[in-house]
Amino acid sequence: MDATDWPRLYRHGRDLFTESLDPGHRTYGEDLRSEGGRELRRWDPFRSKLAGYLLKRPVRPPPGPLRSVLYLGGAHGTTASHLSDLLPDAEIFVVEKSPIVFAPLLALARRRRNLLPILADAQLPERYLADVGEVDFLYQDVAQRDQAGIFAENAEAALRTGGTGLLMLKVRSVTQARPAGRVAAEARSKLTARGLTVESETDLRPFSREHVALAIRN
Ligand SMILES: C[S@@+](CC[C@H](N)C(=O)[O-])C[C@H]1O[C@@H](n2cnc3c(N)ncnc32)[C@H](O)[C@@H]1O
Repeated sequence: MDATDWPRLYRHGRDLFTESLDPGHRTYGEDLRSEGGRELRRWDPFRSKLAGYLLKRPVRPPPGPLRSVLYLGGAHGTTASHLSDLLPDAEIFVVEKSPIVFAPLLALARRRRNLLPILADAQLPERYLADVGEVDFLYQDVAQRDQAGIFAENAEAALRTGGTGLLMLKVRSVTQARPAGRVAAEARSKLTARGLTVESETDLRPFSREHVALAIRN
């Protein structure tokens, strides 16, 4: 197991592992390993776009202090659980609009002190802004129309100046004939027009065939 530049994140061959904040428990059936008195959880890049992103680039934590994170589209908490492992001292606000997946997310958050779930629509940040305050990092994976607009709205509402974010942008879909390049270009120009800087674009294939990751700075 090799250490990476991100404390609590390890690499073993082509696999990533996070040091568990909740030893003995699995969130989504992931492999657990004990090593050097720690429990490590395998982070599946086919289940989590953030793991896929980290495997396609040099593994580095986002720059600057990471005291607070706003995560839009938490679903059952697969990726959120690994972020929770990686940022033990941060507050990670996880917004999810589906009551069906909110129940398991809430159960996960009861076991992890740094996860703060919010049942809300990410298109209406004014509903949760007072609880969240200003954040250092904005992560979005909501797979719905106007993904760039939702990101920009939340960045304006909550991302500190100089803060960074990742938008997992759905660019391909079996029901949509628009070319992926055009979807990404439109999203980039919308983000730029709202005063955000798009620092990189990463194709997530083979881990996700439908998404690119846009790294953004406010
Ligand atoms: C692809 S899943 C997220 C997977 C998750 N990020 C992970 O990696 O573990 C997308 C989630 O976004 C949620 N979602 C879609 N539109 C939303 C919105 N407007 N506000 C909040 N959540 C939304 C869906 O209910 C769904 O759970």
